[in-house]
Order: sequence, then C-alpha cells, then structure tokens
Amino acid sequence: MTASATLLDIRGAAKSFGGVRALDGIDLQLAAGEVLGVIGPNGSGKTTLFNLLTGVVRASGGTVRLADSGANLLDLKPWEISTLGIARTFQNIRLALGQSVLQNVLVGAYRQNRTSWWQVLLTPQTVAAREAQAVEKAMEALRFVAPALATTPDRIVGELPYADRRRIELARAVVGDPRIMLIDEPAAGMNPHETSEIADDILRIAARGMSILVIEHKMKFIATVASRIAVLNFGRKIAEGSYEQIRTDPNVLASYLGRKGDHLAAAR
Ligand SMILES: Nc1ncnc2c1ncn2[C@@H]1O[C@H](COP(=O)(O)OP(=O)(O)OP(=O)(O)O)[C@@H](O)[C@H]1O
Ligand SMILES: [Mg+2]
Repeated sequence: MTASATLLDIRGAAKSFGGVRALDGIDLQLAAGEVLGVIGPNGSGKTTLFNLLTGVVRASGGTVRLADSGANLLDLKPWEISTLGIARTFQNIRLALGQSVLQNVLVGAYRQNRTSWWQVLLTPQTVAAREAQAVEKAMEALRFVAPALATTPDRIVGELPYADRRRIELARAVVGDPRIMLIDEPAAGMNPHETSEIADDILRIAARGMSILVIEHKMKFIATVASRIAVLNFGRKIAEGSYEQIRTDPNVLASYLGRKGDHLAAAR
C-alpha cells in the first residue's frame, strides 16, 4: 500500500457474460495522485473493469467507492459517475470523424454540464454563457493536451492522423479536470516515437493532479508511466507491484507464455 490516501477502492468487482467470468472478484486500490498500470493478456478483463467503473456495463457483484462518497459506483448510471469526476478514453477510439476537433472535445464539457430543457426555456442568456464557458473549457483542455491541435480547432477529425485522434480523445477526457482518468490502450497502433510522446502526455496529465488507471500492452510504456502495476489473467488479479516486481513474477510470466504477441518477454 502506498502512503497516499486511497481515492478509489474496488472490492470484489465481478462480471459474467453468460458462462464467461470476465471479472472474477477484483480488489484494487488507486491512491490519490497515482498512475496505476493495468496489464494482462488479451481477454483478461481489463476493458471490462473500465466498463464497470464507468457504468456502461452492469457488475455482477462487488463494490467501488470513492474516498469521499458512500455510494457504490457500480450502482450508478454513467452520467452520475462522470459527474463524480471519472472520465475515460476508449481502446477503439470513439470520435465523430466528420466533426471538428473542437466539437469532439466539447462533448467532454457537455458531459459534465447538464442543462435541463426548462433551464433552456427560462434562462436563455445563461445557456449562451454556459455555451461560451464550455468552449473555453474545451479549448483549455486542448491547449494542455495537444497544443499543436489547439491552433487549428476547426480541422475535421477524419482528416487527421491516428496519433492526433488519440490526443483528441485524451483532451476530451481531461475537460473539466476529472479526479480520475481511465485510459485504455493509449499507445495502441502508435510507432515508438508517438508512444513516447503519449507517455509524456500522460505524465503531464498526472502532474496536473489527476489519478490515472492506464491499460496498455506495451511494457516499455507501462514501465515509464506507471508507479505500480496490477496484472490480470482470466478475470483475476494475479500480481501487483512495481515493474521490477511483476516482470519477474512467475505467475505473470506463465500467464503470457505461449500467447500471441509475447509483449512482456519482448520488453525485457
Ligand atoms: N459485452 C460483452 N459480451 C460478451 N462477452 C464480453 C463482453 N465484453 C467482454 N467480454 C468477454 O469478457 C472477456 C474479457 O474481455 P475484455 O475486453 O475485458 O478483455 P481485455 O483484457 O480488455 O482484452 P484486450 O487486451 O484484448 O483488449 C473476454 O472473454 C471477452 O470476450
Ligand atoms: Mg481491452
């Protein structure tokens, strides 16, 4: 356990899809200010964990609590979880390709800024002010995560290279300074140079005070960004510790053996 206070406390998180136990009772604690890496072979339950934490998939059991909130996050709706300051990015980038950079990042601002229809009717000037505020928040996030993209916020996302799309997703998640960011395979499909750039981006986001759970297969990346790593296999946590500890752990090595894309061995 680290010296910092626990911010997110996951106990016995479980999810079955039919007969498949995608998550089989995961205990995991994220400390305030920490970057915690989550690794494991394909299909080990990493993305399912993020889906549970963001409410898009209903858990079969377990509890998830934030330090200062009594509610079990696993009972909440996605927008309620987002309001508590938890944001994510997706393994397969989810952006509106026909829309501009700014429009995509704005989604992050509106997610936290829920205006009811009656507020729109009663106070249109407030709505306009909120609109302007949302644009300001989105631009601020863009300048922070991707300064180069912030100079051309009207570019259409579909015309931009893959690495830029990843940055736009990160910017969208950063809008409004969430307390916790869940980042799913940010370096997937990136070349070594882009991978090291995205590692820098994540460390910069962490330095801004956000606590981060990051899934990634690339071990060099994980070793750079994460101060602690949890390893999943078949829905269970099989190891937890520093990079040095997990890379020599016999259970971890066995879990990767004989699998396609032996990333762990390749990183050594
Ligand atoms: N919506 C779903 N319906 C049915 N089965 C699912 C669903 N989502 C995930 N699974 C199954 O749950 C298991 C865990 O999947 P998950 O996507 O969490 O793995 P992962 O660790 O993220 O893998 P990868 O590294 O390939 O992204 C797999 O067996 C997968 O097929
Ligand atoms: Mg996944």
